[in-house]
Amino acid sequence: MANVIIIGAQWGDEGKGKIVDLLTEHAEMVVRFQGGHNAGHTLVIGGKKYVLHLVPSGIVRPGKLCVIGNGVVLDPQAFLDELQALADLGVLVSGSNLKISALTNLIMPYHRELDLAREKRKGRGKIGTTGRGIGPAYEDKIARRGIRVDDLFNRQVFEDKLRENVAYHNFMLENFYQSPTFSFETMRDDYLRMGDALSPFMDDVVNILDEYAAAQRPILFEGAQGTMLDVDHGTYPFVTSSSTVAGGACTGTGVGPTRMSAVLAVVKAYTTRVGGGPFPTELTDSVGEHLASVGHEFGATTGRARRCGWFDMVVARHAARVNGITGLVVTKLDVLDGLKTVKVCVAYHRNGRRLDTMPANPAILDVCEPIYEEMPGWSESTAHARRFEDLPQAAQNYVRQLEHLSRLPVDILSVGPDREQTIVMKNPFQGA
Ligand code: IMP
Repeated sequence: MANVIIIGAQWGDEGKGKIVDLLTEHAEMVVRFQGGHNAGHTLVIGGKKYVLHLVPSGIVRPGKLCVIGNGVVLDPQAFLDELQALADLGVLVSGSNLKISALTNLIMPYHRELDLAREKRKGRGKIGTTGRGIGPAYEDKIARRGIRVDDLFNRQVFEDKLRENVAYHNFMLENFYQSPTFSFETMRDDYLRMGDALSPFMDDVVNILDEYAAAQRPILFEGAQGTMLDVDHGTYPFVTSSSTVAGGACTGTGVGPTRMSAVLAVVKAYTTRVGGGPFPTELTDSVGEHLASVGHEFGATTGRARRCGWFDMVVARHAARVNGITGLVVTKLDVLDGLKTVKVCVAYHRNGRRLDTMPANPAILDVCEPIYEEMPGWSESTAHARRFEDLPQAAQNYVRQLEHLSRLPVDILSVGPDREQTIVMKNPFQGA
């Protein structure tokens, strides 16, 4: 059995798309289990760039089945636009290489409007969401009034649910947020039309996954965002609204935990975060600028500049606990090339006390000071290394120290955006 979950162990943007693409070679199916088109997974293959938001990164590999699980929230317009963008790049997507769970909740135009209105109302305390309607769509799901993909194919059910939802959300938009409202008829017609376009993709995903798992056909579960953005275990309320941790791969697809064989956590060799919220190792000096410019730290979805800082081992150890991580993937090691020294935050200081674990109240993080361990940097380029031994000694030492401090093996190293710029020490699909 080789069913591997790939998650982000920081605040998202760890480079999961590239790693998913790399490991897809060894899987027969790639499954998205949470989030929506707030995600942005960038792949560079043979110099050609693909940016995916909703469609699993496995789609660029011919012969692989990609699945959007029930834990995802799906904006049909964004989905259809993405299919068009992929077609323009020569990637053909059809009902035979992509399935969408009938249970997947839909993002509606009022979700987007509510997302923007809430952020505006929060003012300076805003979360810094991607403005895609993700949070309000999950709210409706949990409130049991969400509209699911399946509903598009039963006109009466769809109309009844939509009428109720439009009335409810228009009331909130008009009276609480003083924001624009929506027409039931326009939305109904748009969504029924898009439903026709979605129909070849809709399927009973739970049974397909069960068949693959029972036949020992390897499955890769592709997480979006990162552990620190998890709605339970992240820096709440500065989080996204889904379960970004490994457990989300079970609830977001209908595959039980005993069927999973490995949890691979992707981390950058440093840390970034987009949006508001605590970030103890954030750097606002020239090193921060180095990381941002050399690392091209601008969001693939919103184009926003990312905040940058040193690697935070308290975060990594927290991620190890809540995900049951079996191995690390360290990406963007090459971005540290040329720095005189490199630092890792090993613990925090708060009111004169040392904290080795993530404080239960994330608000405390805001007042934590990082305690750093400093190591010599390296001047040589790591971009051409294809074996661990090819790396400069100081870069090897840095990676070994990450292993030592996290008590986790580094299974894969990435030294550039291209598929080729990767060092695989251990493949989670082999020997599982
Ligand atoms: P939302 O997911 O749009 O509701 O945004 C909530 C928080 O998650 C904000 O801080 C976003 O910047 C962050 N976020 C959402 N998706 C991503 C992502 O793919 N990468 C990094 N941050 C993200």
